[in-house]
Amino acid sequence: MNLFDVYPLWDIEPVKGLGCKLWDKNGKEYLDLYGGHAVISIGHTHPTYVKMISEQVGQLGFYSNSVQNSLQKEFAKELGEICGYPDYALFLCNSGAEANENALKLASFHTGRKKILALNKAFHGRTSGAVEATDNPKIQAKFNSNNNVVFIPINDIEAATKEINTKEYAAVIIEGIQGVAGIFTPQKEYLKAVRELCTQTGTVLILDEIQSGYGRTGKFYAHQHSDVQADIVSMAKGIANGFPMGAIIVSPDIKPIHGMLGTTFGGNHLACSAALSVLKVIKDENLIVIAA
Ligand SMILES: Cc1ncc(COP(=O)(O)O)c(C=O)c1O
Repeated sequence: MNLFDVYPLWDIEPVKGLGCKLWDKNGKEYLDLYGGHAVISIGHTHPTYVKMISEQVGQLGFYSNSVQNSLQKEFAKELGEICGYPDYALFLCNSGAEANENALKLASFHTGRKKILALNKAFHGRTSGAVEATDNPKIQAKFNSNNNVVFIPINDIEAATKEINTKEYAAVIIEGIQGVAGIFTPQKEYLKAVRELCTQTGTVLILDEIQSGYGRTGKFYAHQHSDVQADIVSMAKGIANGFPMGAIIVSPDIKPIHGMLGTTFGGNHLACSAALSVLKVIKDENLIVIAA
């Protein structure tokens, strides 16, 4: 069997990593500034990460979300403290796209509305709803083109006002910093205006911090430089230093109902131990230097 050939590949095969260094199969050493697509948050094979996952896998690698898992509760507590949203609730899944999928779905459940407002050039992932909110027709199948998403230019307060005031939108979804688009930052005044419009119209504000979160900008989430609070924040990539994991944190105004979201693997024991090790290293090594 061959691989389904969807990735244009660089001719390099990393086989070993340590901190910010990487070695390929020929023993060539690299300074890794790519970080496996902005995923490696505390360095390759950090001893704390290796120890915590190894110990956990020797105890219990996985069970199910239908029983108690105190690692999830511990992670929720630690994340709440460090990320500045201690009163929000945590839902765990397996990837960035899945985090956004759940965020969009939850916004629609909460508001009873169908439409989503997104930004030109946005990238939110490749699952059904996330790809529909991604401004790239080349990666949308007909199945994903349901006219539920309207795209407007970044930092255009007038366009945002016109759309959000229709009260037709379940959510506005914005990347903390647009990554795939080529690094475009929503301005402080823009985010504040959108926050205000969302509050006035009962629209859910989703901040996608999958690429820009987890301390990359000197605050835990990039949008915190603008002093706004999101209703839902999605995260993944750096959350577990390469172990597949995604998450959303949800405002206390959005109420959970049993069964409305769910996953088999999300928040499993190994993912939680990896995620806890990342927060431990961020704290112990003072990795987030809060920018003034
Ligand atoms: C801003 C943003 N959202 C969502 C995603 C999708 O994440 P994943 O590839 O883990 O599904 C990405 C991935 O690059 C991203 O950069």
